[in-house]
Parts: sequence; structure tokens; C-alpha cells
Amino acid sequence: MKHIILMGFMGSGKSSMGLKLSYKLRKAFLDTDKLIEKKEGMSISDIFATYGEAYFRKKETEVLESLKWESAERIISLGGGTPLREENRKLLKELGTVVYLKVSADTVYERLQGDNTRPLLQGDNPKQKIEDLLAKRSDIYEGVADVIICGDGKSFEEVLEEIMEAVQ
Ligand code: S3P
Repeated sequence: MKHIILMGFMGSGKSSMGLKLSYKLRKAFLDTDKLIEKKEGMSISDIFATYGEAYFRKKETEVLESLKWESAERIISLGGGTPLREENRKLLKELGTVVYLKVSADTVYERLQGDNTRPLLQGDNPKQKIEDLLAKRSDIYEGVADVIICGDGKSFEEVLEEIMEAVQ
């Protein structure tokens, strides 16, 4: 299966890029966070608060498993932590081309100031939380990526163009 998969940290633009890409490439768009919210009947924040992160990570694996049976090629946007599980990294490799939207902690912080939908960034010192998580995850993202696109200092259209060139 050759889905186009957008991976990257929270605030890297996976969902907005994915949606635009789906119009441009005329392929349906799927957002794994949205699929989980629909299946569970609650928001990501409520899933974390009620069942915890480990439960959410299992749901991410289940969604990836289900995408193996999609008959048509899709544009898929992941949650930022999806590649943390080894089994998910294997699934991602089977599912298609993994595009890593790489952004710095400063960019994430700027974009997500005031956001209250990301449970992992709530509470004191979100900037530090972003830096710590990004440091832990960078190698994982780079290890699973087929293509790496840097988003810092570029416009939405510039990044979109780069993704289009890379996947076509
Ligand atoms: C998470 C990223 C979120 C969401 C959840 C956990 C993470 O998705 O899956 O809050 O661990 O990075 P976005 O990357 O779409 O914000």
C-alpha cells in the first residue's frame, strides 16, 4: 500500500498540510487522531484524562492496523507520538511513504501558544516540555522518515510544494 503519511511533532502542520494535499492529489484524507476521537466518542484530552496515555497509544496502533486494509491510497496525518511504538514504526513502513515535517521547538512553541488540546503540553513551562519531547523524539522521527521536509521559516505554500515534489 502506498499511502502518503505525514508525521511530525505537534504543531508541525500535519493536518493542515494533509488536508490541502488531499485536494491537490485528489486522494481522501484521514487524520488518525480524528479517527480515534470518533471511535472512542471523546476528545484526545478526555481519552488521556480518563484512560491514560498508554491506552491512547494502543488506539493509535489499532488505527494503523486498520489502515492496512484500505483499498485506496490515502493521505494520512498522524498524531505526533504515533511513531514512538516500535510496532507502529513497522506498520508505518508497510503503509507507505512517510514524510517527516521537521520543525524546531521555537516554531512549535510559537504556533501552539494558548493551545489547550494537547494534554502532553499542559501545565507549567510548555516550552521546556516541547524541547524535552522533541529531543527524545527527533531520532525516532528521522529513523522512520522516507522524506524529511523542514518547515521552519517557510510559508505554508512553500512546504506544500516541497511535499508535492517529494511524493510525486
Ligand atoms: C501527541 C500529539 C497529538 C495527539 C496527542 C499526543 C503527541 O497530535 O495525538 O495529544 O504525543 O505528540 P498532534 O501531533 O496532531 O497534535
